[in-house]
Amino acid sequence: MRLLNASGCLDALTAPEVAAALDVFVTKTVTPKPRAGNAPVRIAETDVGMLNSIGLANAGLDRFVQETLPRLSRLPVPVWVSVGGFSAEDYAASCAVLDACAEVAAIELNVSCPNVEAPWASAWEIVAAARRETGKELYAKLSPSVPDIATVAVAASEAGADGLSLVNTMRGMSLDPRTLRPTLGTGSGGLSGPALRPIALAAVHACAQATDLPIVGMGGVSSGRHTLEFLAAGASSVALGTVLFSDPGAPGRIRTELSAEADELGLASIDNAIGAAFRMPAGVLEGAAVTKPPKSKNRSISGAILS
Ligand SMILES: Cc1cc2nc3c(=O)[nH]c(=O)nc-3n(C[C@H](O)[C@H](O)[C@H](O)COP(=O)(O)O)c2cc1C
Repeated sequence: MRLLNASGCLDALTAPEVAAALDVFVTKTVTPKPRAGNAPVRIAETDVGMLNSIGLANAGLDRFVQETLPRLSRLPVPVWVSVGGFSAEDYAASCAVLDACAEVAAIELNVSCPNVEAPWASAWEIVAAARRETGKELYAKLSPSVPDIATVAVAASEAGADGLSLVNTMRGMSLDPRTLRPTLGTGSGGLSGPALRPIALAAVHACAQATDLPIVGMGGVSSGRHTLEFLAAGASSVALGTVLFSDPGAPGRIRTELSAEADELGLASIDNAIGAAFRMPAGVLEGAAVTKPPKSKNRSISGAILS
């Protein structure tokens, strides 16, 4: 089990000690060209999580590679670079540049699937284009705002992804209590934190059933018990996002809580909990065979996409 940060939720250059407490550091999403991001207000709190409309603000790939990456490479943990764009060519171009950077351990494709009609086709196109440009490990980060995330996961797998990061935020809104106008400058934004957790857990479970790819689970994780649940649903790594804004010590705390959870369940290693939700009979964690149901045939969409 590896503990990561969720993209955009940790600045490792201002808090290197937090990054050092993780197993992998994931950068904020980098786009080919610099982006100013959205107009303020960009962050709002709700009673069930956090809303953000950062708008992928970043200095662009050239400055990232020249200025940020050399500094990140001094961290004691591997660096994954999150890549975003507005076309498959954008992703491919960034992957070609990052492929030449020895400091980059893996690339996470922030696949937002703008084509709502066929999110799996969009994911396939982006992952396939990226795959042609890099031999580095490629993780596809998927949105939960699709009718069937497992179909998108299968498309990403068939296009050559090495793993899945699940999930990104969902659209949400809050209103200013006095003006009753949207709190965020953009009206709505991405909802993260506790409200996302059951949705993310279902997404991890569905994708673990539909593919054999390693999964980084995330969405509202703030305790060892939450981490254990993501492992049981089929994730082999877990990422911390919103919790890091209120508790930068979360990685260490969660590791301690996780080892107490393992003791309580009588597990020799927390890794023995991975996939427990698929085991029969229910409740038997250790020693039981993993009995994942066979992968659904009608989820295989490669013929449809390739033709
Ligand atoms: C302030 C903020 C910025 C984010 N920026 C990015 C980003 O640049 N790229 C990305 O893929 N996800 C981004 N995310 C989404 C997180 O990586 C993560 O998928 C999501 O917040 C769910 O995890 P959590 O509930 O633990 O925060 C951002 C989330 C927040 C709260």
